Amino acid sequence: MNQYKDVLEREDPRVSELFNVEADTIDSGSILIEDPFPALNRLREEAPVHKGALGDLMGYEGYHFTNHLEGFPTYSAFTFAAVSKGLIDNKTFSSKAYYHLGTVAGLGESILNKSGADHRMIRGPIQPFFSPAEAQSWWNEKVIVETVETLIAKIEKKSSADLFLELCARMPVHVVSAGFGFDPDDIIPFRIALTQLNRHGIPVEQRAAAMETVRGMLGRLITERRSRPQNDIITKLVTAEVKEPDGSVRGFTDDEIIGNCTLIVLAGGGTTWRQLGITLFALLENPDQMQLFRENRALAPEVILESARWHPTDLIFPRLVEEDAELEGVALPKGAMLHLCLGSANRDPRRWDNPDAFDITRPVQRSLAFGGGPHSCLGQHVSRQEMVVAMDAVFDRLPNVRWDPDKPKGRLIGDLFARGPSALPVVFG
Ligand code: HEM
Repeated sequence: MNQYKDVLEREDPRVSELFNVEADTIDSGSILIEDPFPALNRLREEAPVHKGALGDLMGYEGYHFTNHLEGFPTYSAFTFAAVSKGLIDNKTFSSKAYYHLGTVAGLGESILNKSGADHRMIRGPIQPFFSPAEAQSWWNEKVIVETVETLIAKIEKKSSADLFLELCARMPVHVVSAGFGFDPDDIIPFRIALTQLNRHGIPVEQRAAAMETVRGMLGRLITERRSRPQNDIITKLVTAEVKEPDGSVRGFTDDEIIGNCTLIVLAGGGTTWRQLGITLFALLENPDQMQLFRENRALAPEVILESARWHPTDLIFPRLVEEDAELEGVALPKGAMLHLCLGSANRDPRRWDNPDAFDITRPVQRSLAFGGGPHSCLGQHVSRQEMVVAMDAVFDRLPNVRWDPDKPKGRLIGDLFARGPSALPVVFG
C-alpha cells in the first residue's frame, strides 16, 4: 500500500480539474441550479406524478436529462410512495431506460441496465464483495483507513484547507481504484477516461479513445489477475462463479467484468466525494447540529443518512414503462419514460416532519438516496464506511473546524443529477 500512499501525498493539479462540480455541470452542457427544492416541494404537493419531464416541469428547459422517447410521453414521480413503487417494481418500470439515455452506449452493458433474472445472475456474485461486513472489514482495513489517514495527516499540518478538494475529492476515487487493484499511477488517468464516457458534449472520437483507454486498462488488469491472483476486487471477480438460469455454473467473461467494473469504479469515485461534501457542508451551515454531533460522535452514521435524505447528490433516476400501468392513480402508457425524483421523495412531509430541515436527531427512516428495490446502490455500505471514517478524522484531528472567515463559503450547486458543494474552505485550531 506504500506506493498508494506516495501517490496521495503528492499534490496533483489534475485533481482540481477532475473534481469540480461547477465545471462538470457547465462542461457537460447542463445548467447550474442553486436550490431545486422549492420547485420540487411545489410539484410534489400538486400531484404525486406529473406528465412531463422533470427539468421541463421545473422550468429548466436546457436541462439535458429531460430526454423524451420519440413519439412517447415522459412522466415524473415526486412522492415517497410513487418513487418507491417506481424503484421496487422493476418489471413494469424497467432500467432499460438507460439504453435510451445513452448510458449503455457510453459505459457498456452492466447491471445498471439489466432487469429480472439477467440482473440477478450478474449482480448476485458481485454483491458479497460490497456487503456491510466487507465494507467494515476488508475495504476498511485494506484501503479506507490508510487513505483517510494519509489525507488528514497532510491537512492537519496546516491551519486552513479546502476539505472538498483535499479530502472529499481524493478519498473515494482512491479507495475504489485501490480496492479494485489499479496501479497507483493509473488511478487519475483511468478516472479522466471514465468521465469522458458518459458526458454530454464529448466529441465521438474523444469518447471512442476514452473507451479504448478504459477497456485497455481493465483488460490488462484482468489478464494479469487471471494468471497472478492478488487480494483485490478484480481477482475476486475473475474467480467468481456465475449461475446460469439452467443451473450451470461458469466464470464471468472479460466483457462482463469490464462493463461492470466501468460502472462500479465510475460510481464509486463519482458520488461519495459529493455526498461527503454535502454532509460536511450541512454541518458547517448548521452550527447547532455540528455541536450535537461533537457531543455525540457515535451519531456519524445517522448524520450521513440524514445528509443523504436532505440533499442526495443525485436527485433523479430514469425508468422505462414496459406495459400500460398506473402509478398513484396516474395512467402511464407503455413506452413512456419515467423520471423518479428521489430528491423530492426524500422531503415528502407524509414521511418526515419538517423535511426541509437538516436534523441529525430525527428518527432514522429509510430514505431513497441510495435507491431501492433490485437496483439499490451496490456500493452504499462501502460509501457509508468511507464517510464515517472521514467524518471521524475531520472531527478528531481538526479541532473546532469551521468556515474560513476570509473566504467565500461553499454553495451547493450542480444540476439535478450530480450535486455537491462548490468548495469547503475551513479553518481549524
Ligand atoms: C453517497 C454515495 C452514493 C449514492 C448517493 C449512490 C446512489 C445510488 C443510487 C440512487 C442507485 C440506484 C440507481 C437506479 O436505481 O437506477 C445506485 C446504484 C448503484 N451504485 Fe451507488 N451511490 C453511491 C455510491 C456508490 C459507490 C461508492 C459505489 C461503488 C463502489 C456505487 C455503485 C453503484 C452501482 C454499481 C449501482 C447499480 C446497481 C444496480 O443497478 O444493480 N455507488 N447508487
